[in-house]
Amino acid sequence: MRTQVGIVGAGPAGLLLSHLLHLRGISSVVLEKRSRDYVERRVRAGVLEQGTVDTLVEAGVGARMLREGLPHNGIELRYGGQGHRIAFEKLVPGRSITVYGQQEVVKDLIAARLEAGGDVRFEIEDVALHALDPEPGSGPYLTFGGERLDCDVIAGCDGFHGVSRPSIPEGILSVFEREYPFAWLGILAHVAPSSEELIYTRTERGFALHSMRSPTVSRFYLQVPPDATVEEWPDERIWDELKARLETVPGFTLATGEIFEKGVTPMRAFVAEPMQHGRLYLAGDAAHIVPPTGAKGLNLAVADVRVLTEAIDRYLTTGSAGLLDGYSAACLKRIWRAQHFSWWMTTLLHTFDSDDEYARRLQLSYLDYVTTSEAAATTLAENYVGMPW
Ligand code: APR
Ligand code: PHB
Repeated sequence: MRTQVGIVGAGPAGLLLSHLLHLRGISSVVLEKRSRDYVERRVRAGVLEQGTVDTLVEAGVGARMLREGLPHNGIELRYGGQGHRIAFEKLVPGRSITVYGQQEVVKDLIAARLEAGGDVRFEIEDVALHALDPEPGSGPYLTFGGERLDCDVIAGCDGFHGVSRPSIPEGILSVFEREYPFAWLGILAHVAPSSEELIYTRTERGFALHSMRSPTVSRFYLQVPPDATVEEWPDERIWDELKARLETVPGFTLATGEIFEKGVTPMRAFVAEPMQHGRLYLAGDAAHIVPPTGAKGLNLAVADVRVLTEAIDRYLTTGSAGLLDGYSAACLKRIWRAQHFSWWMTTLLHTFDSDDEYARRLQLSYLDYVTTSEAAATTLAENYVGMPW
């Protein structure tokens, strides 16, 4: 078999890449390890930057997102017994975010790919990558289930635990990482949001986040120890802790409801450089991950794939590999900005066992600065809604 672009992984990165290539008349095959049902149900974050929304709309996969997504013009920072709104409409006029679950984006992309006759294969468990650095005139190829798929380029979009990054020979990648000494317990509940805006709250008991998915479904996260399990967190305990961390301003009551999803997400940061080797290009979580505090993971995957689409198109239509050669460098500027922003939001809002009173005062001082200085608030706002492409 032959295709122009062999894509490993059907998360947001692989599916969007396949669709953007299709719109430019470039063929691809997407090979996904899990079932369609599994990837459509996998619950992840849900904040889309303005540029992500625009990209999905331009690609013709934004109709349901525009109908069902929840546009937001701000977030609330809550600490020290007070809530403070960071007002995007004032600080970064014309730019906002949309709350829409990542698995809904994945559902829309799969539907669009299949409707356009796209080749997306699920439950392919034994993908292997070959000839990544091919002789001139030949290409790399993928094998799976006894078949061979020849390609012009391979896109490794198979997430942090995928097979693409480990296929790069040793000694080529530099890896930069940080583990945080806590995790997030995330839940979905059948209850109307108790707040107009997302609430990021710092308390002496730890961080909590109030987000939402629809007028009847709310999403919450709690900072928990790194080895926490969902078994240790029965529903009652979760609501008690959410109330303790969120009912900290006068007049605010947290509405509760039936919890129908629970999971623990580790908090870590990771970047592999360069994001390419020979004719293999890594995109999304395969190359980099951020802690979810800044909600940048999905948005970075979209940014990578935009750059990669342009570079592949140039290569296949003109034979010039210039943009492809510069792919990693072009992406890494945005990735490191998001790494810094995610680290900064995480550090600002979580409690660290290692913190002494000095560190605590610094944290509170910075929170006061961000909530009173327009310059500091603008820094948060422009990063949150997403830096320009
Ligand atoms: N072969 C084929 N597919 C694989 C393999 C493999 N060996 N290993 C993993 N996969 C699949 C996973 O099952 C998953 O569907 O690759 C896909 C990777 O998707 P994501 O993990 O969603 O990563 P990405 O598309 O880069 O999207 C980034 O996802 O993890 C979140 O926070 C992250 O929001 C960000 C977004
Ligand atoms: C979510 O709604 O899942 C969400 C929102 C904001 C974040 C992370 C996750 O920072």
